[in-house]
Order: sequence, then C-alpha cells, then structure tokens
Amino acid sequence: MKNEKDIHQHRKDEHLSLAIKYWREGRNQTSGLAFSDLRLIPNTLPELAIDDIDLTTELFGVRFDFPFYIEAVTGGTERTNKINQQFAQVAKNQNLAMAVGSQSIALKFPELASGFKKVREINPNGFLFANLGAGHSLENAKRAVDMISADALEIHVNTAQELPMDEGDRSFYWLENINEVATRLEVPVVVKEVGFGISQKTFRQLSETAISAINVGGNGGTNFAWIERRRGKNGFNIDEFGLSTVESLFEAKFADNKKPLIATGGISCAQDILKSLILGAKMTSSAGFILSVLMESGSEAVEQMLKNWKQDLEKFCVLTGSKSLTELQTVELLYSTNTLNFIQQRK
Ligand SMILES: Cc1cc2nc3c(=O)[nH]c(=O)nc-3n(C[C@H](O)[C@H](O)[C@H](O)COP(=O)(O)O)c2cc1C
Repeated sequence: MKNEKDIHQHRKDEHLSLAIKYWREGRNQTSGLAFSDLRLIPNTLPELAIDDIDLTTELFGVRFDFPFYIEAVTGGTERTNKINQQFAQVAKNQNLAMAVGSQSIALKFPELASGFKKVREINPNGFLFANLGAGHSLENAKRAVDMISADALEIHVNTAQELPMDEGDRSFYWLENINEVATRLEVPVVVKEVGFGISQKTFRQLSETAISAINVGGNGGTNFAWIERRRGKNGFNIDEFGLSTVESLFEAKFADNKKPLIATGGISCAQDILKSLILGAKMTSSAGFILSVLMESGSEAVEQMLKNWKQDLEKFCVLTGSKSLTELQTVELLYSTNTLNFIQQRK
C-alpha cells in the first residue's frame, strides 16, 4: 500500500509527464480567441532605434528588466525538484523572476521543503514567488513565503482542475480567505488562475480584495482538465470550458479592472508577450512551453530562446513604434471576426 506522501508525489510526477506529453503532441490549442486573432498594424516610419527601446516593467513597486518570468511548475519530488532547480539557474543567469510550484506538499511533509529551498540557494538574490492554493491559512502562507524567502506569493485558484480530479477538492469558499491572507501577509499576493481564464465577474470580486495583482491564467496552453481527466476515472469533461488568455485580458478591460495584470496561458513566443502587453498586461509568464523546451533541448536552449525573445520584443516595439511598455498600450490591433463577435457579446 502506498502512503499519503507517495500518492501526493505520484500525482505531481503524473502532472509533469502529461503536461510535457500534451505540449509535445502540440495538443494545446483549446477553444477561444488565440493570439493569432489579433494582428499588428504596421508603423512604417517608427522614428525609433533598437537602442531606444526600454523593456522594463514595474510590478509591486519593483522594476523588472524584461516583462516575463518562469511560471510555477509543481515540485516536491526528485524529478520536479530537478526541473525547478534548472529553472532557478536559468532565472539567475537571465535575471528573471520565477515562481515555484505549489508548496502545500512541503507544508504537509516538512522533509520535502529542502527541494523548494534549493531554488533560493541557487538564486539568492532573484525575485521568487511562493505558491499555494486558495484554501490555505495565513499561517501556511507565511510558512511558504519563509521557506524560500519569497518576494511575493501566488495563490492559485483552480476549481476547474480540482473538479475533474477524482481526489480533488469539492468545496470552494475562497474569497474571504484570499482577502485575509493578502491583507496580513508581509509580501504582495497575486491571485492566479491555472489555465481557465478570468471573467469580468471575478475581476470585480477580486477588485474588492487586498491582492496586489491578478494572473489571468487563460486557456491556450497547458490544460489541466485534460490532464486530470486522463489521470482519473470520473470522466468529467470540460473541454470547451474557460476563457483564453486573450479573452481574459479583454474581460479585464470590460470590468474596468485596476489591479496589475499578469498574462499566462499558452505564451510561447515574443509576439504572444507583445500582444499581452498591448492588451494591458504588465507582466507575462509561461509554464508548459518553457518546460517543453527544457525537456526537449535542455537549459542552454531555454536561455538562448529567452535571449532571442528579448531581442524579438525590442524589434516588435520598433515595428509598432513603441519606445516603452507604456507606449505599447496605445498600439492599435486589427481584430478577427471571432474577436469582434466576442467583444460584441461581452462588452
Ligand atoms: C507540470 C505543471 C505543473 C504545474 N504546477 C503548478 C503549481 O504547482 N502551482 C500553480 O500555481 N500552477 C501550476 N501550474 C500551472 C502553471 O503555472 C500555469 O498557470 C498554467 O500551466 C498555464 O500556463 P501555460 O499555458 O504557460 O502552461 C503547473 C503547470 C504545469 C505545466
């Protein structure tokens, strides 16, 4: 008989294997608007040079050189710890922020905390997000932050992941707890969807809380409903469920959201980053794509890709005539018919 720790660790490794498998098979395009539904309008006389471009962004009063970080990819097993440690080295070398995966396994089994702590040891001065689910107490949030001397906390909200999971949660009273943690924790708190997007209603609910930012975590990339359905036996099918990253960013606008936005979900090139920034994100991140590159080609390839993304983003800024990320927010886009349809229904 497997004990509770083995079962928990097995689940983490299964998440990892299935996420990699689906990215490898290119099975990540789900329903909803994609980045390709937005086209850039040329700016043939930009009156700019590459050297003029400033890619810095600000979040929680902190300046980041580049509006992208490495998003949470589980942890707490030998295999997943190794991946997080490779990402920590990439983050350090490329001066990027990074989120660790959910630390709840290490709160339950403290002997597993060392795997998460290693990320901080590798990158002592980098910006690190701790990560926990929305049901955790303030006390647990403090323990997770302390475990890795985190600079901020991501609280993941994953109803659409838990419900297809045989062993998943079935009760989701989270809002009050999120506010309590965000009000009393000493570091900024981000509420983060994990791939099903955020609607206007939720943006309005979150606007009433003390959180510092919202990660829209839309679909278009890793799909945890598929992953859990494949793992489980209950067959709960929500294939068409959720809003894409692009749609979630529109929803934020329609809800007049004022919280800083992070765009995650299917980001896999500089153009996706660019379009997210144009739609109002201050930051972007990727989990599945960057993981698939790491597994396929190793950490040097990830670093080279990130260097290319920086150069590409500068080039896109020139193409759109934008000197800074603030100027990007005024760039005009050409919308596909599906986009117009979405706007008509949702605005
Ligand atoms: C293997 C794997 C494990 C993940 N584990 C976590 C986690 O522990 N905590 C969390 O908040 N998000 C987790 N995520 C979700 C990602 O951080 C991200 O929100 C989601 O995958 C959508 O982004 P993507 O399309 O770039 O993968 C995980 C993603 C992957 C691929």
